[in-house]
Amino acid sequence: MPSDFDDIRAALEHQLALYGDLVLVDDDVPAAAEPAPVDPKPTPEPIDEPDSVSEPDSDPWARIAALIPADSPLRDMTSLDEVAAWVATTELIELDRTRKNPVFGVGNPEADLLVIGEAPGADEDEQGEPFVGRAGKLLTDILDAIGFERSDVYIANILKSRPPNNRDPFPDEVAAHIPILHKQITLIRPKLILCVGRTSGTSLLGRDSSLKDMRGVFHDYHGIEVMVTYHPAALLRNPNWKRPTWEDVQLLRRRYDELTA
Ligand code: URA
Ligand code: URA
Repeated sequence: MPSDFDDIRAALEHQLALYGDLVLVDDDVPAAAEPAPVDPKPTPEPIDEPDSVSEPDSDPWARIAALIPADSPLRDMTSLDEVAAWVATTELIELDRTRKNPVFGVGNPEADLLVIGEAPGADEDEQGEPFVGRAGKLLTDILDAIGFERSDVYIANILKSRPPNNRDPFPDEVAAHIPILHKQITLIRPKLILCVGRTSGTSLLGRDSSLKDMRGVFHDYHGIEVMVTYHPAALLRNPNWKRPTWEDVQLLRRRYDELTA
C-alpha cells in the first residue's frame, strides 16, 4: 500500500542513487556535483578533545576494554559467540526479561565499519536481528548507496533488549548494557564507527549533545573515529534530514576508503 513512507523512501532512494554514482566509485566526477564540503553548518568543535589519542602505550582496544567493569564476566570472553550466548542467558536489566529475543548484533565479525543504533524495535525483538523493520530497510539502503552490503559491516545497538513502546533507553539501562558493546568493539576492532541517532552518539561518546551538533565531523573514541548521523527512523519522519545524512555517509565512505586502503 502506498504511504508517506513509500514516498519518502522513493525520494531518498532517488537522491541516494543520484549522488551515489558520483562519490563512491567514479573518480572523474563533474566538480559541480561534488558533494558539498560547503554547506557549512555552523561549525561545531571539529574533533573531540583527543585526550586518549596521545597515549602511545595503550591501543584503542585496551582502552575500551578497560571501560568494562572489572567484575563483569565479559572481561574474560574471547569471541562474539561466547558473548552472544552470555547475553542471551543473562538478565542485566528488566528489559532482558520482557524481551522476546535478545538482539545482539549481526554482520562481519571482522568488519572495518561498525554501525550502532539505539535499541531493538518490535520487528527486531521478534526476529532477534538489528535493523530489520522499516527503519532497518532504510539503513540497509543507505549502506547500499555507499557501497556496503549488510554483511560487509557489523550492526549492533546500544541496548540489546527492546524497551516497551520504543521509549528511549533509561540511563541505567544504557549503563548496564553498554559494556556488551564495549566488548563487541574490542572483539571486532573496527576502524570506523557510525552511530545512527542521538541516543547512539551520546551513549557511546559519553556526552550530552544534539544530533545537529554531533553530525558532520569525526569524533575520537579512544582512538577510533566515529561519525554520528541521523537515525533512519528520524529520516522517515523528517525528509529535511536526508541531505545532511547523505553528506555524513559520504564522508564516512571516503574515510573508510582512506583507512582501509
Ligand atoms: N532502531 C534501532 O536503533 N535499532 C534497531 O535495531 C532497529 C531500529
Ligand atoms: N533527533 C534525534 O534524537 N535523533 C535523530 O536521529 C535526529 C534528531
